[in-house]
Amino acid sequence: MILGGPASPKLSKRLSLELHTFLLTPEIKRFPDGEIYIRLPGELKGKEVVVVQSLGPPQNENLMVLLLMLDAARDLGAKKVVCVTPYFCYARQDKRFKPGEAISMKTIVKLIEEVAPDELITIDIHEDSSLRYFSIPVKNLTAMPLLGKFIGSRLRLKNPVVIGGDQGSEERAKKVAEEIGGGHDYLVKRRITPTKVTVEPKKIDAKGRDVIIVDDIISTGGTVIKAVKVLSRQGARNIYAACTHPVLVGKTLEKLRKAGTRKVIATDTIEREVSLVSVAPLIAQALR
Ligand code: R5P
Repeated sequence: MILGGPASPKLSKRLSLELHTFLLTPEIKRFPDGEIYIRLPGELKGKEVVVVQSLGPPQNENLMVLLLMLDAARDLGAKKVVCVTPYFCYARQDKRFKPGEAISMKTIVKLIEEVAPDELITIDIHEDSSLRYFSIPVKNLTAMPLLGKFIGSRLRLKNPVVIGGDQGSEERAKKVAEEIGGGHDYLVKRRITPTKVTVEPKKIDAKGRDVIIVDDIISTGGTVIKAVKVLSRQGARNIYAACTHPVLVGKTLEKLRKAGTRKVIATDTIEREVSLVSVAPLIAQALR
């Protein structure tokens, strides 16, 4: 059965339809002091339970709900518990960049493993290398081919090129480009003089072409907006932005549009108005 967390109601429903399985929704209330109350209204004893809860904003709140659901499912006698966190929070703080920093991703992994799910499924985690923190089996799926298929079939693109926001996104851009049929590239910073740094595509000239900027996360939009400015200056035709996880803090979507982004295409790992592509078939396939 699917246990659909409050951060992923639509995705949980889609997943239960894909798998033709029962969807259980937890009863969640709040105590007057702010603490969270959770009740799982159903027979879980001996069942295989898939707990679906994304860890997008508000991350800390969503994490607490996930921990309570996982532990309750196990405690109520579930035979197997699979944890699906479509967006894994704190994954960008996966190492100590400065002395003394917390390795937050590692802490979150420890907390989740403490309530003992049998395995975990996530999507496009920021860095594959951070999967080393898990000791339970973990599957990191990628939504890039799904995004590519959607973009290729729904947008009328002229001479398209897919560009990763940075070198880390080159592989992602490649996977999207394989579905669309255009080339791919990524943006690099070049130091022209000791004080002047420019950002430009590594090898491709975007002039007259439709460009799809690809990233794992769009959070403040800073990375995409910088890319849009550079590509517009190069004479790109229409510029689109695609990502797996539309974190989109505050007025980011508005800022992206104002900067000249024609359309933002994302998945439902975090449920937003731009979540045009569902990752339900991907998760269903992995669960099967
Ligand atoms: C960073 O390495 C990530 O891949 C994204 O580029 C970044 O998290 C996007 O954040 P923002 O939208 O705030 O620029």
